[in-house]
Amino acid sequence: MSTAIDRRRLLSLAAAIGASAAWGGARAAPSKLKWTERPDLFPHGVASGDPQSDSVILWTRRPPADGKPARLTVEVAEDQAFQRVVATAPAAVSADVGWTTRVLVGGLKPSREYWYRFTDDDGTGSRIGRTLTAPAPDDPREVRFAFVSCQDANAGAMNAWRRMLFEDQQAPADRRLDFVCHLGDFIYEIIWYPEDRARRYDRQVREVARYANGVKFQDMHYPTTLDDYRAVWLGYLKDPDLQDVRAWFPFVNMGDNHEFSWRGYQSIQKFGAEVVWGQTRRVAANQAWFEHQPARVIHKGALNRFDAPKVANVAVTAFDDQGLGQEPGNLAAIGSLTSYRALRFGRHVELILTDQHAYRTEDPGDRPEARPLDAATADFPEFQPQEVTEILDAGRAYAGGKPPAEVRIGDAAIPNFRKDQAPVTMLGATQKAWFLKTLKASSATWKIWGATNGTLEMRCDYQNLPAGLTKKPWPGAGYGDGGGGDWSGCYAERGEIYDFVRDNKIAGFSIISGDRHSFWAGYSAKALPPKAFEPVGLAFITGSISASGMAEALEHGFPKAHPLRPLFLADRANAKPEHAMNMLIRHGVRSALEYTASRDVSKARALSNPDLAPHLKFVDMAGHGYAVVRASAEALETEFVAIERPIERNPAPDGGPLEYRVVHTAKLWKAGERPKLEQRVIEGDPKLSI
Ligand SMILES: [Fe+2]
Repeated sequence: MSTAIDRRRLLSLAAAIGASAAWGGARAAPSKLKWTERPDLFPHGVASGDPQSDSVILWTRRPPADGKPARLTVEVAEDQAFQRVVATAPAAVSADVGWTTRVLVGGLKPSREYWYRFTDDDGTGSRIGRTLTAPAPDDPREVRFAFVSCQDANAGAMNAWRRMLFEDQQAPADRRLDFVCHLGDFIYEIIWYPEDRARRYDRQVREVARYANGVKFQDMHYPTTLDDYRAVWLGYLKDPDLQDVRAWFPFVNMGDNHEFSWRGYQSIQKFGAEVVWGQTRRVAANQAWFEHQPARVIHKGALNRFDAPKVANVAVTAFDDQGLGQEPGNLAAIGSLTSYRALRFGRHVELILTDQHAYRTEDPGDRPEARPLDAATADFPEFQPQEVTEILDAGRAYAGGKPPAEVRIGDAAIPNFRKDQAPVTMLGATQKAWFLKTLKASSATWKIWGATNGTLEMRCDYQNLPAGLTKKPWPGAGYGDGGGGDWSGCYAERGEIYDFVRDNKIAGFSIISGDRHSFWAGYSAKALPPKAFEPVGLAFITGSISASGMAEALEHGFPKAHPLRPLFLADRANAKPEHAMNMLIRHGVRSALEYTASRDVSKARALSNPDLAPHLKFVDMAGHGYAVVRASAEALETEFVAIERPIERNPAPDGGPLEYRVVHTAKLWKAGERPKLEQRVIEGDPKLSI
């Protein structure tokens, strides 16, 4: 999208996103302000967001000292000493927005480094932040950015951030990152209090926040009011590594589920089997997000205000044909913040971000009607028959409009409660129309979809288990599917998007995601064998910054005597188990069993089932860290930087040792051609992930 902003447009744009405006077109001159850094008065640091070629948003938080609200001035300079200041403007803070401020600075030059700081009337100031503008839309230079997700400050350490910062500051200026794309779970709204639970898996539970109005579910606490949501945001933003990284890179942020609710969709929450109507909580979550993430998001407030709609927590019973709850408070709560958007970086990158939770329909696999099927696969962990996911996902559209009357696994059957309903949507009708239009209209070399939830199918070939290993054979018709709830199990809508890419001859289509707490690299394809495998693009999923993943959970929870344990965990004396599940997902049951028996990777890979995962080049269910994308006219390169399990903060300047660094590169293909990924291990050993 065109982003050229003149002064008049700057004001209306700033108002629409709830920021004040500053014009950066002034002739550079030395700062006239007295400034003494007082981090204690700016306890959550500074940040910048959504850079474009001529503008960027700046952020800080300044709670009142001695009960007196501060009046802030923001300065933007071309140098760190503020001798070449190009913008000076007031930056309002008020209790209405939790003492935060956003300033949209326009009139900047493309591809430039800028420095900024906030100062009050007494000359006390924030730390100095650094930001970068995007390359101009016709600039052919390579675009580089990191993508990340899932930082858990309650039971994890932010060593990945320290590593990213270290590497960027060591790099020559022309090899540094242009921005960081955070794909959500920036906070986890569910927190443990140390007195309720001392440890979670390998980690010690740390105090992160207290909820004045929180509700306890099992041993977890969750927020119910704006003050609660603010408390958890501020708890996270106290982290020194997170503050350093926010002060160094501009961020492009998109929330995932945990910014609102673990199992939330629209404004509805679920805790165990209980459904909780959460319209007021959705508004509170949106406001807290708006207050702490500088972003070009449309909301109903004006300058530095968030006008929270008046809603009540009432049942949402009527849904339209796309599954959108029609209760006015549900619509108003969702509508209080629209965060899907696209940002352009030079000639080569269009970053299109979608919201996977505000408009989505309920995961049908999560419905009580589906529970009677659970017993049929109880002996087969983590996966259910793929055909069941497909039937429940597609609803009335299954099999060309001929859904079965019942859903069956072996002897167990339920009525097909989805047979008259529309397919599951993650995006909702309005967002999807916008997304497809934006994708088609983009002239960038690489159309990169920031989807927050992983799109690469996670399945296994339980049908190939050797006879006798389990009491009864696998009851599915074929493959097992492990991706219910994210794009993996959202067959119909995912296929619709990929068909659109193919039919509209869109080349350079690539997806970046988080949420799975694991690293994945591969191809975007509507279907896998025995159906035709026809990839239309690339897809990458980053490991979490710090949140624990499935591998760690299984290390702690998988029964020792379970006959299928060797598929998931290769036990070792005096060491943590190896993660055979990577091999299970990438190569199949025969490879995983062979590896656990012989510990011979070559022998295990020789038994690979080629039909299981032709879409995958890499899977690490135990990986943490971040990913870096480099996009040029010729190729897209994605580097996984995997750190050791972030149990405790590592005080080393580089954040501690790496597990591995792996690069996947694809040359740009023409529409209709198949993309092809090349894999290089640069450092360390990704073990069973290949
Ligand atoms: Fe997460």
